[in-house]
Amino acid sequence: MTQTFPVQRTCPFAPPSEYEEMREQAPLVRASLPGGDVWLVTRHAEAKQVLSGTGISTSPESPGHPNWAFRAEQPGPEERAAMRAFAVGHFIDLDPPEHNRFRRLLIPEFTVRRIKELRPGIQRLVDDLIDDMLAKGGEAELVEAFGLALPSLVICQLLGVPYEDHEFFQSRTREAFADLNDRDASRRAMMEIREYLDDLVTKAEADPRDDLIGRVIESGQLTHGELVGVTFLLLVAGHETTANMIPLSVLTLLRHPGQLAALRADPDGWPMAVDELLRYLSIVDWVAFDRVAVEDQEIGGQLVRKGEGIFVLGASANRDERAFERPDEFDAARGARNHVAFGYGVHQCLGQNLARAEMEIALRTLFERLPGLRVTVPDEELPIKRTAPIFGLTALPVTW
Ligand code: HEM
Repeated sequence: MTQTFPVQRTCPFAPPSEYEEMREQAPLVRASLPGGDVWLVTRHAEAKQVLSGTGISTSPESPGHPNWAFRAEQPGPEERAAMRAFAVGHFIDLDPPEHNRFRRLLIPEFTVRRIKELRPGIQRLVDDLIDDMLAKGGEAELVEAFGLALPSLVICQLLGVPYEDHEFFQSRTREAFADLNDRDASRRAMMEIREYLDDLVTKAEADPRDDLIGRVIESGQLTHGELVGVTFLLLVAGHETTANMIPLSVLTLLRHPGQLAALRADPDGWPMAVDELLRYLSIVDWVAFDRVAVEDQEIGGQLVRKGEGIFVLGASANRDERAFERPDEFDAARGARNHVAFGYGVHQCLGQNLARAEMEIALRTLFERLPGLRVTVPDEELPIKRTAPIFGLTALPVTW
């Protein structure tokens, strides 16, 4: 039986109900798309196997890559060339050994130690955003006022965007990610950001500072275009993800008042709670997990042939009862570090320590400073992103 794909979510806290049936059916399920069939990986063990496997490629250049399967008409040479030019430096789409050159250079920028140094800056940004909310009165829309604003400001800090440009940068990132289905507006904003980053790198080349961009320039290992691409990738990868996780996490915690009270009483529990939120909400699901087999191989007892496209269903793997007890329960004290919300293998999220720090500081501070925080609309009126590639809420009206 072939599955239709993608399957939409209907509940903010759960993957599509079809995932459970698919997981029961087999670790790999065939899905039909306009441009051809793909494999969907439903279980945790096989998800890890694919994400860490040899004989698997993530590059859209590899024949049979599943991203093209959404279109019945395949892109011609001109479109492919334009996309290739735009993607220079986007190492998330590169296979080893090319991928290693970028990853090795950037790992030192995202170690636990380096992120610890960034924490006071993140705390200041979080406090300023909450001050702004308080100054505006007793109500706020949390996605706009907090969820979207924080990752944008954090990336400004990381890349050394001057303070006077923050507003431009924030408004453009908001526009770029506001509605990924409004492709023209989103593409225009992305091009403006790209031009801005190009300019930022050019200025840094003339006068390098001791920051991420300055250190990469100093290493002499990337071309100008590659470094611009890297800064753009960091923005894209770190923005929508964190921005969607924060409001959805607030909603989840408000739904579990006992667990929230325990976290307030013992803030040391936050790091573990953050990983459980990542597992439970699995907002990235399949969109980053596009792969293609570059040699014949067996996965979960299924022969997958060279050139066959694969999507790993992260949200299904994170609810696999073979890997997690009571997977559909939210348990902030579970210790769910073996989730695949940050992926697995060579492409495992480079910014995961930063993302964890942002989420932890944002959630802890928000619930500390606004102890009466509550949602002002009934559940059925909460707008959820049904079709967006990264799941989340479009708005979360709150009071305190
Ligand atoms: C809650 C927030 C986040 C989530 C859920 C998330 C999720 C992911 C996932 C699933 C991947 C793996 C993609 C793959 O297998 O191809 C990934 C890769 C990546 N992430 Fe994140 N991410 C988050 C935040 C961030 C942040 C804050 C940054 C940096 C500012 C970042 C930078 C990256 C980069 C550069 C990659 C590509 C790594 C590589 O290909 O080597 N992410 N992320």
